[in-house]
Amino acid sequence: MQKNIDPEVIKRVTQLREALHHHSYRYYVLDDPEISDSEYDRMMQELIRLETNYPDLSSPDSPTLRVGAPPLDKFETIEHSIPMLSLDNGFSDADIFEFDLRVKRGLDTDDTIFYTAEPKLDGVAVELVYENGRLISASTRGDGFRGELITSNVRTIRSVPMVLEKGKDRKNPSLLEVRGEVFIGKKGFKRLNDSRLDQNLPPFANPRNAAAGSLRQLDSKVTAKRPLEIFFYGIGRVADLDLESHGDTLQALKELGIRINSNIRTKITIEEAVDYYRDLGERRNLLPYDIDGMVIKVDSLRLQRLLGATSRSPRWAIAYKFKASQETTQVLDIEVQVGRTGALTPVAHLFPVKIGGVTVGRATLHNEDEIRRKDIRIGDTVLVQRAGDVIPEIVKVITSKRSGEERIFKMPLNCPVCGSPVIRAQDEAALRCIDISCLAQIKQRIKHFASKGAFDIDGLGDKLVEQLVDKDLLFSYADIFRLKEDALKNLERMGSKSAANILSAIEESKRITLSRFIYALGIRHVGDHVAGILAKTFGRLEILMSAAPDELEAIEGVGPVVAESVGRFFGADENRKIVDAIITSGVQILGEGVQEEGTLSGKVFVLTGTLATITRDEARKLIEKAGGKVTGSVSRNTDYLVAGASPGSKLKRAEALGVDIIDEQTLMKLMIEDR
Ligand code: IVH
Repeated sequence: MQKNIDPEVIKRVTQLREALHHHSYRYYVLDDPEISDSEYDRMMQELIRLETNYPDLSSPDSPTLRVGAPPLDKFETIEHSIPMLSLDNGFSDADIFEFDLRVKRGLDTDDTIFYTAEPKLDGVAVELVYENGRLISASTRGDGFRGELITSNVRTIRSVPMVLEKGKDRKNPSLLEVRGEVFIGKKGFKRLNDSRLDQNLPPFANPRNAAAGSLRQLDSKVTAKRPLEIFFYGIGRVADLDLESHGDTLQALKELGIRINSNIRTKITIEEAVDYYRDLGERRNLLPYDIDGMVIKVDSLRLQRLLGATSRSPRWAIAYKFKASQETTQVLDIEVQVGRTGALTPVAHLFPVKIGGVTVGRATLHNEDEIRRKDIRIGDTVLVQRAGDVIPEIVKVITSKRSGEERIFKMPLNCPVCGSPVIRAQDEAALRCIDISCLAQIKQRIKHFASKGAFDIDGLGDKLVEQLVDKDLLFSYADIFRLKEDALKNLERMGSKSAANILSAIEESKRITLSRFIYALGIRHVGDHVAGILAKTFGRLEILMSAAPDELEAIEGVGPVVAESVGRFFGADENRKIVDAIITSGVQILGEGVQEEGTLSGKVFVLTGTLATITRDEARKLIEKAGGKVTGSVSRNTDYLVAGASPGSKLKRAEALGVDIIDEQTLMKLMIEDR
């Protein structure tokens, strides 16, 4: 590092880098964070500030590069020191037992062979090179021999370590080439496509395409915004590591802080591998990412070397693929649905088919342009795919099956629900019904309001909302909180027990966090992620509601389109009235995020034992009112433990973690101070 810079600054930069590396490892690799997101952001901001003020301190493995580097004109290519091969595929148990026999023949043995079995992720294969623990390059598989250098892009993937963890008994290997699969998880994919549709960009067909497109961006700042993840599954060249089996390799990678999949079985027989394939197949839909099969590898590295490879693939591994998640079926009809923002979405009704164990009868067509692009007609035979949780989609039309009887679909000129004329806004792909009292929109808005990420009202599902709206019992959000047992009881398939359950779920939902509240309002372009950012930034609903446009635009993670939409929403009188009505019907927003004025803003409390002058519940309300947060258990994030008489085990834990332990009086003082 440079001479003329204050050593304190250099020290701080080093400290921040180490801390940020450590915390992103805890968060993205171990999934076990030790600090809050806001603390992480604060450290990152401080480091960015220091690196901007002292450009000489910049470094290729600074965590600040996670947000992207200057754009490239084109990708350089690089040769893989050991070719990146492909895998042989198997589709049945017989194929796998055959593989086991081939392995035994190749080794000229009858002994039981032990294998490792791993989920096969469907993404993009990459190779990363670490020298003395530092990431120096990353490349795609390319043609197996040469790949494209995508180092800046790979640095933006949070689960990729920029420096390796020095394990307890290990020093960093002087060279480590490590291979893995970059992918986008199911949630990330949905969020990415939702936001693309909101911005009138074409959605990605599947998570694999989205991952590949995101990695091949010349501007890594674009890559940085994509929810890319990685699992590592093997190595190329390596120095200084003593490895005997593939299981050892994975363990060594794990100890170096490199993310490996947790659904791996090692040292199993071929029969156990086949059993595991069944088990994994059953759990496949529950995994947060798509897998297209399982990879079975001979565990012993000595045996792997003896077996060697063909020009295409190693003889010691096989991919046992799952049944295709694509099927062909017929488009019976195309129906138009009206969404919560009035957007008209065409939906294909399909002849029901089983895809990956689930019966599919509908597929979204997004918008008219999409139908034209794929030239989908009513009566067409189509290829349909389901990628995990993602809504089924039509991949393409099988034109050879056309009879000439197929009908071309046209979007209606009027809203199919309320009949008002529809409009196509400038630069938008979607047609919209702009009558906000259109019953279809009202139903969708209320369904969203009651849904899981929003008010999460158990029992108030889609069918019930539709009935209530049709019977004039629900029209606005606040009506939910005025529902009476009598009205509910008289509905179809509703006894007094279920009615009472729903009413108590409604009652429970009234205490809600600010971010859920904002999300529930269904503001255009505000999904749960943006709602979280807004809640964190403003802390209180009133402050958000009166935020100026430039304040909204200045927020990191909030672009001009979102800022405009939020500003417009709260600027409209009718929306302010809607919010008022919700609050006056008894909804309480829990203290959340940073509060500008509260004396306890940003502080996290845990309460234990019997307090002398107030109940714990009253203490909680006071703390929340002053901007603090109360949680149920002591962690590193806890700022204060308020301990009354006969405290429980929380006291011990707070002592162990070095959390400040205070009594009631001190709590009161804290609330009054700085006022
Ligand atoms: S091992 C020499 N393990 O599948 C063998 N590959 O179809 C190298 N893949 O190019 C591959 N998950 O991109 C291996 N657990 C896993 C994998 C995996 C996904 C991909 C990889 C490879 C492709 C071959």
